[in-house]
Amino acid sequence: MLNCIPQKLNSYMQRVYINKISDFVDKDVTIKGWLYNIRSSGKLMFPEIRDGSGIIQGVVAKSTVPESVWEDFSKLTQESSIIVKGKVSKHPKKENVFELQINDLEIISLAEPYPITPKEHGVEFLMDRRHLWLRTPRQVAILRIRNEIIQSIRDYMYINGFILFDAPIFTPNACEGTTTLFATEYFDLGKAYLSQSGQLYAEAGALALGKVYTLGPTFRAENSMTRKHITEFWMMEPEMAYYDIDDNMDLIEDFLEYVVSRVLKNCAVELQTLGRDVSKLEKVKKPFPRITYDEAVEILRKKDIPLIRKTESGEEQIRPFPWGEDFGAPHEEAIVEDFEKPVMVHRWPAEAKSFYMKRDPKNPDIALGVDVLAPEGFGEIIGGSQREDSLAELEKRIKEHKLPFDDFQWYLDLRRFGSVPHSGFGLGIERMVTWICNLEHIREAIPFPRRPNRIKP
Ligand code: 4AD
Ligand code: MG
Repeated sequence: MLNCIPQKLNSYMQRVYINKISDFVDKDVTIKGWLYNIRSSGKLMFPEIRDGSGIIQGVVAKSTVPESVWEDFSKLTQESSIIVKGKVSKHPKKENVFELQINDLEIISLAEPYPITPKEHGVEFLMDRRHLWLRTPRQVAILRIRNEIIQSIRDYMYINGFILFDAPIFTPNACEGTTTLFATEYFDLGKAYLSQSGQLYAEAGALALGKVYTLGPTFRAENSMTRKHITEFWMMEPEMAYYDIDDNMDLIEDFLEYVVSRVLKNCAVELQTLGRDVSKLEKVKKPFPRITYDEAVEILRKKDIPLIRKTESGEEQIRPFPWGEDFGAPHEEAIVEDFEKPVMVHRWPAEAKSFYMKRDPKNPDIALGVDVLAPEGFGEIIGGSQREDSLAELEKRIKEHKLPFDDFQWYLDLRRFGSVPHSGFGLGIERMVTWICNLEHIREAIPFPRRPNRIKP
């Protein structure tokens, strides 16, 4: 709450945060932070101070500060923690840039030689020092945007009458296929699995509360080292009773438009730090294109994008793209290429999708699923569907998928007692952050990424 209390403009040497500094021009303030960098030119020093909310350049003049302050500044090392006092001034040349004319310094802790300098470092070097890498302006900007994305999701859901419904993380059964489960011993009860998705529980929630959402960590033991996969990721999953697949898509586009507009409104500085082309994000306004899987395959065939299958001798290219296959990165890129908004691909081959999706009443080979592909080639950010609401059909599916029938009895109860048409979707938070921040790789979208080859720090 501290940040929400209006900072009194007149109190002497008040502690302020750098991102609020424009309110304090010509005022004396205190900043508590760390030294990011320092330059000196003879009788002037220019320390760059960061406090987590931003970076400000200070000006220290040898002629005006006490000698001890000048000497202390000469001693400072990168990332030393410091408290500085001074008067806020407008930058002489740059609009909306402020400086601090420093007159006092207190050193809280002199840092040892810092391993991460403003020069370029290799990714693995930085990943090994992720706990320190997080302090750099780019990482700070990404994490502030992640915060805005999650906050705007919570606000959207709250304003629109969704109830937060926390799903368990220890689960007895799979939601998204048995090949990507992380198992752990669970007392005398045998194996428990880390949740791949809160969806099955959210369905129970929707039938109790109408409209719910889960937001929490989910786990996939996918041994793939792509730019889009981590083994522990955060997912937001709304689930709504009496929603069909079209209602689901209406919600998706309204929701995504809201979240993107909130980031544009509240994170302009952070987007600028990242060099993000915001004109691309400004185009994310509903309606979004809705194309069927069949139409997406048509696009791939017209563009002659083959399916690439790994074989023992290398790779095999299959043309034209065969109906029924899931899309990989080159396909997702080709499908969205001619659109400037997220593309909703709906009505998928049932074979390629999960057991719980309802079949299209017009064609039993088709599942009422929808994937949302982000523009600019960022790939799938959302997977969702209308759920199978018939007890008999769902029993059949669970057997076909060779899932443990007994463990799913509670889930089948949802079809036994007051079954209704219902739908929902899952948004991968890190995929969303990767797209909004225009990141090369998902590993920067979460504070401490977990990948098959990395569990530290
Ligand atoms: O498409 P998925 O597997 O769908 C589900 O889990 C459904 N149960 C959701 C639902 O309908 N409630 O995953 C949903 C999203 C993907 O679109 C992607 O954004 C993200 O979760 N995701 C991952 N993100 C990072 N790393 C991974 N390994 C991911 N796997 C899925
Ligand atoms: Mg998916």
